[in-house]
Amino acid sequence: PADGAGDGPAGNPRQPLAFESHPFTSYGSALHIDLPQPLRAGQLLTIEIDYEAGEGPGVCWLAPEQTAGKQKPYMYTQGQAVLNRSFFPCFDTPSVKSTYSATVKVPEGFTAVMSATSWEKQKDNTFVFKMSQPIPSYLIALAVGDIVSAEVGPRSRVWAEPCLIEAAKKEYDGVIEEFLVVGEKLFGPYVWGRYDILFMPPSFPFGGMENPCLTFLTPCLLAGDRSLVDVVIHEISHSWFGNLVTNATWGEFWLNEGFTMYAQRRISTQVYGSAYTCLEAATGRALLRQHMDSTGEQHPLNRLRVVIEPGDCCWSSPAGVNPDDTYNETPYEKGFCFVSYLAHLVGDQSKFDAFLQAYVNRFKFQSITADDTLGFFLEYFPELKEKGVDSIPGLEFDRWLNTPGWPPFLPDLSPGEQLMRPAEELAELWAADGLNMEAIEAVDIMAWRTYQLVYFLDKVLQKSPLPEGNVERLSKMYPKISKSQNAELRLRWCQIVLKNNLEAEYSKVKDFLHSQGKQKYTLPLYRAMWGGSESARALAMETFSATASQLHINVQNYVKKILGLEVTG
Ligand code: BES
Ligand code: ZN
Repeated sequence: PADGAGDGPAGNPRQPLAFESHPFTSYGSALHIDLPQPLRAGQLLTIEIDYEAGEGPGVCWLAPEQTAGKQKPYMYTQGQAVLNRSFFPCFDTPSVKSTYSATVKVPEGFTAVMSATSWEKQKDNTFVFKMSQPIPSYLIALAVGDIVSAEVGPRSRVWAEPCLIEAAKKEYDGVIEEFLVVGEKLFGPYVWGRYDILFMPPSFPFGGMENPCLTFLTPCLLAGDRSLVDVVIHEISHSWFGNLVTNATWGEFWLNEGFTMYAQRRISTQVYGSAYTCLEAATGRALLRQHMDSTGEQHPLNRLRVVIEPGDCCWSSPAGVNPDDTYNETPYEKGFCFVSYLAHLVGDQSKFDAFLQAYVNRFKFQSITADDTLGFFLEYFPELKEKGVDSIPGLEFDRWLNTPGWPPFLPDLSPGEQLMRPAEELAELWAADGLNMEAIEAVDIMAWRTYQLVYFLDKVLQKSPLPEGNVERLSKMYPKISKSQNAELRLRWCQIVLKNNLEAEYSKVKDFLHSQGKQKYTLPLYRAMWGGSESARALAMETFSATASQLHINVQNYVKKILGLEVTG
């Protein structure tokens, strides 16, 4: 595509600049094909392109040390948002969908997997894949490594390196099918055939990636106690929102993620109840708060509809938005609030569920804009249209989409209060000047769910720095937290260590950043270190120079920006 941002005019009211003048040069260059003669509309044309994919950002080549087993190399692709153009020539915009097939020959001892509806192994270690449903380019994915699989359900298996397969099977055996069944009940048929999972090497930059038929997941989710399944439910929810009904431009990424967050929490409510789901949603709201505090509520990227423009691509320069920069809490959690607001307008959960199912059915296999979504909503509920719900002062649909800032409506999370209140009260106790140990010891956190601990730690972080000595005591009193191997707890604990400048536990920050490369864990920790003391800054530099080569190139570049280092490529 000529437009490096990958979006057509729908997402970009201004004419895009010429490709060469914007900075995503590492994403490749436009391929122009002159046709030998003019074609008639509808005439079939086959184009054969001979090409090599090398060091583009979409294709990741890992050395053996970068894998869990450390024995053999690994390669995988990550297409979203506009990286697949360095994997294969394509119309790299979510507004175009197509089927695909691929023949992949790999060396002996390796297995290839793809986001495909069918696959077959032929002789000479050659794998043939076919995706029979139309999908956008960003959902085409390939991974090759020393991987094996295990069945976890009637249409699901997990893939992982041999050293992780037992843990992977244990974590998900028997649970995936339940989520799929609930999803189908809520949103309509699951059209992708299989739902398999691939556990990625530790440097995979995301919690999960919804590649159809084969979700990619970070191995950090292998907590041993199923406590982080919300990520799997999220990726399953994309089977309807994102993969079937797709945002036509990355400027409306919230259509994918906001609806998916809503769908995730609907499934979670059915399976785990509303108390637990509201607690999880409250931790999401805390992330949105942190994000808006650190970027400024009025930042233009804190709108649901952002303008993607070629230009300088970074948070500090609103002139140009790289689609990758839309990966922040706003499309997720503000998007969730907007969809919750639509549900609130309807007022009846089962009617809104029926709407969601009709919406998927109406737009399946298409790419759409928010105007399509909201137009369909008003058409589906003519009585709401008549009432003018799209223009209630302060809550105008237009304001939701185009005004940056905190959501004008927040869904009621009070069903989670029974789980949140004890955590809030405990955080209060730990933030006090003279610690009331009697009251603290009366609270038994051993029985708390992981998300209750997460919520507690978020509150402690908000109140940090705590009075001198409190964090050390907290650390000693709760090894369940400070020595936890659960990634969500480790992230919060490291944030608390840094905010309180607890040098005695800096090694935990270092160990965590050495153990994985997820963007949402990595960037907040580097921001905290860089905003901290001299020794925290030194820790940042030391850790980055030791781990940079392990990180995904995008994550590397974001960290460099935080540390004020020059960004290359
Ligand atoms: N599709 C996203 C991941 C993504 C977004 C990759 C933008 C590249 C660009 C995926 O579905 C996602 O949202 N993952 C979250 C899961 C969480 C919200 C439960 C993640 O990785 O943190
Ligand atoms: Zn998502």
